[in-house]
Amino acid sequence: MTVKQAIETRRAYRSLEPVEITPEILEELGKVARLSPSCFNNQPWRYVFVYEPDALRAMHEALSRGNAWATKASMIIVVTAKRDADCVIKDRAYYAFDTGMATAFIILRATEMGLVAHPIAGYSPRKTREILGIPDDVDVLALVIVGKKSEEINELLSEDQAKKEKQRPERLGLDKIIHQNRFKVEGQGG
Ligand SMILES: Cc1cc2nc3c(=O)[nH]c(=O)nc-3n(C[C@H](O)[C@H](O)[C@H](O)COP(=O)(O)O)c2cc1C
Repeated sequence: MTVKQAIETRRAYRSLEPVEITPEILEELGKVARLSPSCFNNQPWRYVFVYEPDALRAMHEALSRGNAWATKASMIIVVTAKRDADCVIKDRAYYAFDTGMATAFIILRATEMGLVAHPIAGYSPRKTREILGIPDDVDVLALVIVGKKSEEINELLSEDQAKKEKQRPERLGLDKIIHQNRFKVEGQGG
């Protein structure tokens, strides 16, 4: 699979079936995060791979109601980073940017390995901290829900979520997100 194919294949699917989380999966996903770029090579990301049944079940408590579908995950990757573990240049703190890039690498490699890797923001960082013993100065930036795509629509999905299983949500036009040679202020012509 090329990078382009992985990007095109990746979807935030919500209908999942179990997949065995092998040592190879754990190693491959860890290795690509390791190679991701970061400011001054600071590597601020710390991931908790949660896949043992008891630990995984405990993490269900941290999911928002709208993310009940994620209880079918075979692994939850908890994405954490410390603000001061990476460059802070005046008001620019790079830890979330760098950790986002590393997480995208994980998601694309997981896609290449035939897995679904779906990032979510709908969870309680406080409960996640409690469950996993994450200190207060470490930010819990996201969870990545990992499983295998099921052909059966998950019964926990809303009508809207079920529709999105079949069709990727619309994207903004290229001309809106890519500006040629000069920033185009929205609402102004030319
Ligand atoms: C930071 C972030 C937070 C997200 N939070 C949720 C979430 O809480 N629940 C959910 O079902 N999907 C969540 N998503 C998935 C997006 O809804 C999804 O990526 C978007 O609708 C585009 O669909 P696609 O990824 O299938 O192309 C999140 C994605 C990102 C990057």
